[in-house]
Amino acid sequence: MDATRIEEVVGEFVTLRRRGASMIGLCPFHNEKTPSFNVHPARNVFKCFGCGKAGDAISFLRESEQLSYIEAIKWLAKKYNIQIEEIERSPEQMAEMQAAESLFIVNDFAQKHFEHQLFHTEEGKQIALSYFKNRGLREETIRIFGLGYAPDQRDLLLRSARNAGHALDLLKKNGLCSQDGTRDFFRARVMFPIHSLSGKVAAFAGRTFSADKTVPKYVNSPETEIYHKSKVLYGMYHAKKAMRQQNECILVEGYMDVISLYQAGIQNAVASSGTSLTEGQVQLIRRNAENLTILYDGDPAGIKAALRGLDIALEQDLNVRIALLPSGEDPDSYAQKEGGVALRTYISEHAHDFIVFKAQLLSDEAKGDPIRKSALVKDIVSSIAKIPDPIKRSVYIKTCSGLLQVDEDALNAETNRLLTNQIKKKDQKARNQPGAASDSAPPDQGDFGWPDQEYPNASETGDLPDAPAVAPSGRAEKTRHEFQEKDLVRILVEHGHQWLEKENTTVAEYVLADIEDSIGSFEHRMYAKIVQTCYELLLRGEKLSKNYFLHHDDPEITSTAVDLVTSPYEMSENWILKWNYPLQNQKPPELNFQEDARQVLDRFKLDKLKKMCDINADRIKTAAQNGQEEDMFRFMKIHQKLNETRNAIAERLGTVVLR
Ligand code: CTP
Ligand code: MN
Repeated sequence: MDATRIEEVVGEFVTLRRRGASMIGLCPFHNEKTPSFNVHPARNVFKCFGCGKAGDAISFLRESEQLSYIEAIKWLAKKYNIQIEEIERSPEQMAEMQAAESLFIVNDFAQKHFEHQLFHTEEGKQIALSYFKNRGLREETIRIFGLGYAPDQRDLLLRSARNAGHALDLLKKNGLCSQDGTRDFFRARVMFPIHSLSGKVAAFAGRTFSADKTVPKYVNSPETEIYHKSKVLYGMYHAKKAMRQQNECILVEGYMDVISLYQAGIQNAVASSGTSLTEGQVQLIRRNAENLTILYDGDPAGIKAALRGLDIALEQDLNVRIALLPSGEDPDSYAQKEGGVALRTYISEHAHDFIVFKAQLLSDEAKGDPIRKSALVKDIVSSIAKIPDPIKRSVYIKTCSGLLQVDEDALNAETNRLLTNQIKKKDQKARNQPGAASDSAPPDQGDFGWPDQEYPNASETGDLPDAPAVAPSGRAEKTRHEFQEKDLVRILVEHGHQWLEKENTTVAEYVLADIEDSIGSFEHRMYAKIVQTCYELLLRGEKLSKNYFLHHDDPEITSTAVDLVTSPYEMSENWILKWNYPLQNQKPPELNFQEDARQVLDRFKLDKLKKMCDINADRIKTAAQNGQEEDMFRFMKIHQKLNETRNAIAERLGTVVLR
């Protein structure tokens, strides 16, 4: 990382201009016309103020080039001529990796074999190549997707693989031949390789030419060590770049749909291959785009398929829309007939929001039938309750209340009931996992007679939680105390290692020693993680450093840390150039960490105290209502003490405590 210059790495993919202390360019992670993608050479990090992506050179390569952590490091090592020494793997690890690698090698051989049959044999050209061309595919497209041909011969692939020295065993494992090793698995079919995310051939699908309905149209490779159907979407390797740029994934059903769309210039499409979406597939999509558009045939089967399994997509916070094609058309036929531009227009004119679509469709079906209607309401509400974002949820409730002619309050109540259940279940789960966040009990505030169970957390203070206890997508979740927590963590990351003269200790030790009791009860998941990490480092006697967090191998920590230490604003040079007016009283924050640390700490405490005061006020009220005088006086004493502490801190901060 010391050798790496972030601007040089990013510069290989993005054109950067200098602007003040940083450099700026068009963000490679989302579509934009005015640059908001910032690179900070001094900090060796990047951050996009448009889409929020942030990180270091390694996370940049992982995101933009889809490299693994190790691959990214190797990429950098190559660029900077650094030799990498690899630790020897355990024999089992080696064996496993070699096994996977050799399976890919055999598949690669098979793909080249099928491709050769397609382009370089008379039979292939006449039967298969002409078939593809008849279906409107250009040669370039055929090559991009690596299509091929398996002639109607018993063991052509087997023989040629054997001649090339490939072990029979591996062909069997890949499902390329029968288990007795005498017959090819794919015969008399055009071949579609199924690529892994990094573009290696993980499996195949073969389509028959035969119109005979008893012959299955497609046969597919079985599940193998390198092919897990539920985690693969056909076309992902070719689509991921466009998907990221457009922040949208188009989901179609078939292999041919993906290929035709790609050829027509719609390159962000993937296929579910005729099954409903799995969680793994949805995550794959979510990692590349926030919007999902389902493009299916308009016949009843297509509609049913479109509705199936989509709650999973809502759970992952995807915005789901559905566009149905005119009956009798599939995306392939439409794109071939009308072209990509027309299809794009069609999609944008016919795409409906998934939940609204479902509500409309089903409410037509349930007309005049109260029992079906109530089942329908439950169905829609259960979809709405899957959405993590509370604002989105409330918009849907409004819309659906209008569509279904059901009272908004009733929909709200039902949604809240489901949400509460979901949270209970999640809490239960979390509690059963050792070391889970909810295990770390809130601090025992013994002095104040603070029973643990009354110490509030995000899901207990309000009528309704703001968000599920665990944010599924890993994005920042808003909590009540987020602001103070963020500031505190910022100080730790940015200045934790620096020395406080007056206290004769480091910023991190000074801050953490003071809030030791609260370390376990941070509400924001990432801030909790970082505070905990700092604390553990100190306990182990290790030094904190900004770079430790900025270049952490947990990408979530890296990204949060970058967020904390970067700002979209810079002091304009014009203050000095034009007005000869340098900063007067106020030191820039990076030089002002001593005062900064103390203030952050005070604000954090003030916030916690406010929380305590609120709880205590409730207790006074309850005790008063129930006539429990003794309790009431005890709580009032606590109240006084809390207020004194609050006022003292507030005075130091120069702020006023309200109430
Ligand atoms: N499928 C399959 N096995 C079958 C039929 C279909 O695996 N016997 C899967 C394939 O992934 C196929 C998808 O379901 O791509 C959609 O089926 P279909 O629309 O019939 O196939 P298309 O890809 O549209 O193929 P074509 O246009 O060549 O008919
Ligand atoms: Mn088709």
